[in-house]
Amino acid sequence: MKENLINSHHLELPEIIQGGMGVAVSNWSLARTVSQCGELGVVSGTALDSVLVRRLQDGDLSGEVRRALAAFPDQEMVAPIVEKWFIEGGKAKDQPYRLKPMPTVKMRREEEVLTMVANFVEVSLAKEGHSGVVGINLLEKIQLPTLPSLYGAMLAGVDAVLMGGGIPLAIPAVLDALSKSAPVELKVNMVSTVTDQTHLLQFDPSVYPSLCAEALKRPQFIAVISSDILAKTLVKKASGSVDGFVVEHYDAGGHNAPPRREGAYGPRDTCNLEKLIPLGKPFWLAGGCASPQRFREAKALGARGIQVGTAFACSDESGALPEIKRDVIERHRNGTLEVITDFKASPTGYPFKRLVPTDRSVSEPCRVCDLGYLRHVYEKVDGSIAYRCPAGPRERYLASGGTEAEAEGKHCLCNGLMATIGLGQIRDGQAIPPLITFGENLSFLDSLLQPFETSYTAEQLIAHLRSEVEVEQLML
Ligand SMILES: Cc1cc2nc3c(=O)[nH]c(=O)nc-3n(C[C@H](O)[C@H](O)[C@H](O)COP(=O)(O)O)c2cc1C
Repeated sequence: MKENLINSHHLELPEIIQGGMGVAVSNWSLARTVSQCGELGVVSGTALDSVLVRRLQDGDLSGEVRRALAAFPDQEMVAPIVEKWFIEGGKAKDQPYRLKPMPTVKMRREEEVLTMVANFVEVSLAKEGHSGVVGINLLEKIQLPTLPSLYGAMLAGVDAVLMGGGIPLAIPAVLDALSKSAPVELKVNMVSTVTDQTHLLQFDPSVYPSLCAEALKRPQFIAVISSDILAKTLVKKASGSVDGFVVEHYDAGGHNAPPRREGAYGPRDTCNLEKLIPLGKPFWLAGGCASPQRFREAKALGARGIQVGTAFACSDESGALPEIKRDVIERHRNGTLEVITDFKASPTGYPFKRLVPTDRSVSEPCRVCDLGYLRHVYEKVDGSIAYRCPAGPRERYLASGGTEAEAEGKHCLCNGLMATIGLGQIRDGQAIPPLITFGENLSFLDSLLQPFETSYTAEQLIAHLRSEVEVEQLML
């Protein structure tokens, strides 16, 4: 753990960031490959506790999860997890996964440990076998597991924390405190309250003395933003150092920042880079940047480099099911691929890029809320905390004070995204269909792949992105 003592503030991060893609599309395997190539590999930190318990129920056939668990500093904390969730040889394919309890404001110790350990596992596997840098991506909108997630990732020596999906003002100070294993708290984002109480998420590393013997590296904090105004606010008002920005255009995969004019994006929804430069922080452009030309342009515009998502999601190493990648590549080639900005689908209320399935009958959203990462937190009339998801059962949502308009058109992202990576739940003997997110721009496939090729590795993609830039450097 010695190397963790280094402070990473002044480390210059690589020019290419492989964007964090949840749930476990950017898994340790993709992030490790990218980091081995000298770029910034980023694991998604979303729902890693559920990912871990499902991998264990699938028998961890490669043994990698258990190898990473064996590296966790306190084996007494790990043993009950393996005991509870591991199934030798894996569960029967038609059996449903057993579920862990949904995230809550006051986490039970067992859930806190699981979250910490799961984040440790993902980051330490991504860091294995090379000296490159690894980041973790978290979303401000998925707030309840954030504190133990960060600590688990930091125990594994994570080099950068990338966070979008909201305005993460409080996170830099949390990273400062956690690096000293000091207690931390975050104000819970409530959707409605009846009292003036402040509800807090709290995490105290000293509860785990076996883990916090040494100081931990303070990872760089990179905020994912879409406007220069937000960047400025973060630099001025954040609780500590913001070390850079990913500037994400609205054609990017995953969630997008809401447009200024409801229901449609326009010219005012792009970031003014000239206003970003005086802030003096490195930035990376994201959204349709997966080409050597865009890479070069980004640098000419003052960016340190680019963050690429979709092109890595389609590569061999990503966690998305191989049949999904094949289908996307084929549909792009035959012109039938349809990616829409769905303004209603996500329980977060943010626009979400969604691939329209060819078989439209499977697009009927499931409305069972049993993973609960996107539940809204609210106060009941007696001031106590409760949870509801607009993508969950409609009657329950309405009875708890939600509105028809909020529930309309919602998709269960938690279950749908789990299915994208082959960890989908089985319900009534049927597999839940995947919900697939990709960016709008897949033109990189045309120059990256020869007509006879149907797949590529992350390394090939990086070589492609760097091709023109390298030629230019040779000519200088
Ligand atoms: C499958 C997929 C999942 C994503 N999930 C996340 C996420 O969990 N958190 C996040 O900050 N960005 C997420 N993104 C956005 C990427 O990190 C990246 O910024 C974006 O994909 C860049 O645009 P591009 O897809 O055109 O390359 C996701 C993108 C994709 C394609």
